[in-house]
Amino acid sequence: MPSSNMQPKIRIDNLHVVYPGRRGEQVEAVGGVTLDITDGELVCIVGPSGCGKTTLLRVLADLEQPTSGAIQMLQSNPERPLKGTVFQGAGIFPWMTVEQNVAYGLKLRGVPPVERTATARHWIGEIGLERFAQAYPAQLSGGMQQRVGLARAFAFDPEVLLMDEPFGALDAQTRLLLQQTLLQQWERRTKTVVFVTHSIEEALTLGDRVCVMSARPGRLLHEVSVPFARPRDAIALRTDPRFSTLFAEIWDVLRDEVDRARADEVAG
Ligand SMILES: Nc1ncnc2c1ncn2[C@@H]1O[C@H](COP(=O)(O)OP(=O)(O)OP(=O)(O)O)[C@@H](O)[C@H]1O
Ligand SMILES: [Mg+2]
Repeated sequence: MPSSNMQPKIRIDNLHVVYPGRRGEQVEAVGGVTLDITDGELVCIVGPSGCGKTTLLRVLADLEQPTSGAIQMLQSNPERPLKGTVFQGAGIFPWMTVEQNVAYGLKLRGVPPVERTATARHWIGEIGLERFAQAYPAQLSGGMQQRVGLARAFAFDPEVLLMDEPFGALDAQTRLLLQQTLLQQWERRTKTVVFVTHSIEEALTLGDRVCVMSARPGRLLHEVSVPFARPRDAIALRTDPRFSTLFAEIWDVLRDEVDRARADEVAG
């Protein structure tokens, strides 16, 4: 749901990231990505393994410096944190209860204890873990832990949410349920989301737009505008004939890149 503001929320301009390789060679992870993302847009990025998706997100999260090129992110509300991340594995602290984990970002933001507990409880309710508010992560299943990671991100309420394969390690059913949870929460409280996934289905289910990256050095090869109306239903979508057409269109581009990435790995 893009706003009328013509300036993009995120501007990635000819971004290159080069790492030093193991044998002193240079590994070009990101090879010139240019992309504008509108305020409130949910953009999914797919690409073969090793093509620089995580690197791109790490640059957006300020965890990595570009070798060249630039990124800009517009802050529209100084009261709200600009960015938050959900990376693979829930990234939650094992020594904190569910409630403390969900409230953690609010604590960092200096939100008073009563208010942050109330917000944390609200989000724990939204993800259906009320009974586990005082449990520790080790007492939860992987899918429940991932829900805690989502609740923490939503409680933190950043303008831009950067998500790197957050559901990658989950079984197919839990994954579908969490996609549905993310859709519902995002549709209620729109934020700009950059979501990296290996799953074309997931990208089509969640995204306003799907960007396909090339094998390393990662560039944007292809873009698909996802036509499905919102609110979306993660299950019902799959029976839409456009779903399989778009799947085939993306896979057509991706297949060659996966082959190229494999060949590159074998050549070492
Ligand atoms: N810190 C680093 N030092 C050196 N090389 C790195 C570093 N981080 C990533 N790379 C290399 O950069 C390339 C891109 O890595 P990145 O993790 O961004 O890929 P990816 O697209 O997220 O892959 P996957 O889909 O497997 O998660 C890979 O060749 C990787 O080996
Ligand atoms: Mg990655």
